[in-house]
Amino acid sequence: MKVLVLYTTVDGNTAAVAKSIADRLGADISKIVRVKKVKGYGFFNNLKLRMEVSRKKKPDIFPFKWDPRDYDLIFIGTPVWYDSYNPVYNTLFNVIKIYDRKIALFSTGEKPEGKALKKLAAVLEDSVLLGTYHCIEPIWEDDEKETERILNEAADWAKTIYDEAEKMKEEEEFKRRKTIYKY
Ligand SMILES: Cc1cc2nc3c(=O)[nH]c(=O)nc-3n(C[C@H](O)[C@H](O)[C@H](O)COP(=O)(O)O)c2cc1C
Repeated sequence: MKVLVLYTTVDGNTAAVAKSIADRLGADISKIVRVKKVKGYGFFNNLKLRMEVSRKKKPDIFPFKWDPRDYDLIFIGTPVWYDSYNPVYNTLFNVIKIYDRKIALFSTGEKPEGKALKKLAAVLEDSVLLGTYHCIEPIWEDDEKETERILNEAADWAKTIYDEAEKMKEEEEFKRRKTIYKY
């Protein structure tokens, strides 16, 4: 089964989770990168970023090589920004449609899970959502063991999603053959 892990990150927390998932599953991994970097979190920058989120802006992103149709299962990861997903996904989903895929969503934030993944799921309603995972800023944990525990927890979650997707794929294949060969 072909798996893609898509993510975006500014400070590395979501990247760490994405990498942990991709390593566990042997998946392809791709980072959505803004053309104009986020330049710190001062008052005016934060105001600008808040507007990007509330007005559903589409910041420019660098081109990418993958095609969602090449994958059976796609994980999509985002840092939580103002209780929503990162605006680079507005740009991405404007350029490509991810539909009729099995998907799973993950996020990192400074607080426990809010509405970000629900909002992201709503944008991806034409796909089959197999699950969501949220954790608090893993790489900023004081204790390295805690970072490791969270990243392992994320990978374990991803493996259960993978197993479920594989089971579904087998059942779909069985149904398809039953229709074609009528056995
Ligand atoms: C502009 C901005 C807005 C944020 N808003 C929220 C928020 O509403 N809720 C939350 O839990 N964390 C919020 N955070 C914290 C980030 O979600 C958190 O640090 C995340 O792990 C960053 O991911 P990254 O290291 O991959 O960039 C915000 C961070 C930034 C920069």
